[in-house]
Amino acid sequence: MTTATAPPILTLRGVSKRFGAVRALTDVELEVRPGEVTALVGDNGAGKSTLVKTIAGVHPVDSGLISWKGDQVRIARPHDAQELGIATVYQDLALCDNLDVVANLFLGREIRRRSVLDQVAMERRARELLDTLSIRIPSVRIPVASLSGGQRQVVAIARALVGSPEVVILDEPTAALGVEQTAQVLDLIERLRERGLAVILISHNMADVQAVADRVVVLRLGRNNGVFRVAESTGEEIIAAITGAADNAVARRQGRGGTGQEDSQEQSHEQSHEQ
Ligand SMILES: Nc1ncnc2c1ncn2[C@@H]1O[C@H](COP(=O)(O)OP(=O)(O)OP(=O)(O)O)[C@@H](O)[C@H]1O
Ligand SMILES: [Mg+2]
Repeated sequence: MTTATAPPILTLRGVSKRFGAVRALTDVELEVRPGEVTALVGDNGAGKSTLVKTIAGVHPVDSGLISWKGDQVRIARPHDAQELGIATVYQDLALCDNLDVVANLFLGREIRRRSVLDQVAMERRARELLDTLSIRIPSVRIPVASLSGGQRQVVAIARALVGSPEVVILDEPTAALGVEQTAQVLDLIERLRERGLAVILISHNMADVQAVADRVVVLRLGRNNGVFRVAESTGEEIIAAITGAADNAVARRQGRGGTGQEDSQEQSHEQSHEQ
């Protein structure tokens, strides 16, 4: 594949974000390339969700630069991200259980014909979309409440694709899924990559990350703590970066906030790593 050398579609430089006294992100760098799955990993509270929310326009950055296809952009609200071509699938999915698959896919961007919902066109587009992604659902006219967890997740991802985005952010898409359903979602992620999309995958599951990601970006205490090419790295190296076992003392001290909370977290990481 030539994609390894493709220029980034989205670049973050020196991005910082505070919530009051909490430094959620400090000087974070991120490059996202088309045709690549970039995994974003790190412990609870490392800043992963905050980082993707800055990209999605939910939490605009306090400082730092964001570029899209080489041009500096401002992402101040979700609409800005959507306009650029950035779609996000949040962990809580936000599907409407009582509505069918078609209605969920087009929620908020319904196709209308002379101001009346064009059910035929929406159903056709829904089938086309699911077909191109090889997503198999018993019927596009059943309420999503009756789908399995894996099917609901692929519907949520398909919904993000309705606006033809170029970057798709998936926050823990397999967290609630069993083995079979996880495989289904990982297959879909690979198809998104094959179609040239840039995928940002947040995951706590190292097996999933190693199965589908091309690159892994590690966050720790709101800072970058390593970028790995999956093909050239071991799971141990990545886990060491996540837990901070690979930190030197200086990086550790810098990573600490003033609350003392991080100190206790720090110790538990050390213990768990040394066991
Ligand atoms: N809206 C908010 N208001 C205040 N603090 C927040 C807010 N969102 C996140 N934080 C804080 O920012 C830090 C990073 O949180 P974030 O949710 O980005 O972590 P995460 O890496 O996604 O963790 P997890 O793996 O648990 O989902 C945490 O200390 C968190 O408490
Ligand atoms: Mg999170």
